[in-house]
Amino acid sequence: MSQLNEHISQLREDFMKGTLSESDISTIPFVVFEKWMQEAIHAKVNEVQAFHLSTVSKDGKPSGRILYLREFFDNHYYFYTNYESRKAIDISNNPFVSFTFFWPELERQIRMEGIIAIASKEKSDAYFNVRPTESQIGAWSSPQSKVIENRNILDAYVKDNTNKFENKDIPRPEHWGGYVFTAQYYEFWQGRKSRLHDRISFTKNGDAWKIARLAP
Ligand SMILES: Cc1cc2nc3c(=O)[nH]c(=O)nc-3n(C[C@H](O)[C@H](O)[C@H](O)COP(=O)(O)O)c2cc1C
Repeated sequence: MSQLNEHISQLREDFMKGTLSESDISTIPFVVFEKWMQEAIHAKVNEVQAFHLSTVSKDGKPSGRILYLREFFDNHYYFYTNYESRKAIDISNNPFVSFTFFWPELERQIRMEGIIAIASKEKSDAYFNVRPTESQIGAWSSPQSKVIENRNILDAYVKDNTNKFENKDIPRPEHWGGYVFTAQYYEFWQGRKSRLHDRISFTKNGDAWKIARLAP
């Protein structure tokens, strides 16, 4: 253990891949997000669509997990999950959440904060319908975030649902669907040498966005 700690305490990397300045980015943060996403895809960032979602429970306790972003346009971001999961319970009590992307290949981080709502049924149906059959069966079979006695129980649910839906169209379960997140705050972070990183934030101010530079 002490060897491990010694190892991780000495890991150090200087970030040299880019710079970020107010003058060369859009004044609209979701336009910057789109550009960074394009650049990340171009750079073949691993799991580029993965982000960290933080939620806060009714009693003020935070929790986090990685999810996949499935769509975005303008200031709206979609992901899909189980509506009875821990995150869903948090969201039903407190719609304020944060998103964090980390793209190490580009030495970039994006933070967003805002408010989340359940996506339309049409949106959820449309996405569910293009998922692979195994994922559709999985959505029916997994009581996400609940304690289950063992793996066999999950496998048995999958088997039952596979039989139930054999040669049939699989409808979206009521307990599964999308969320749409609307950002009120963004921070774009570009790693720089000697920990003197660039950080540019955008805060929603009525219809406009207030831009600021933050110390690293
Ligand atoms: C790379 C990656 C992508 C994931 N994508 C999703 C996703 O899109 N939807 C989802 O419900 N869970 C996804 N998960 C699983 C979640 O991290 C989490 O275990 C699950 O949603 C239950 O979270 P909760 O108990 O906090 O509600 C993903 C996990 C990883 C590591």
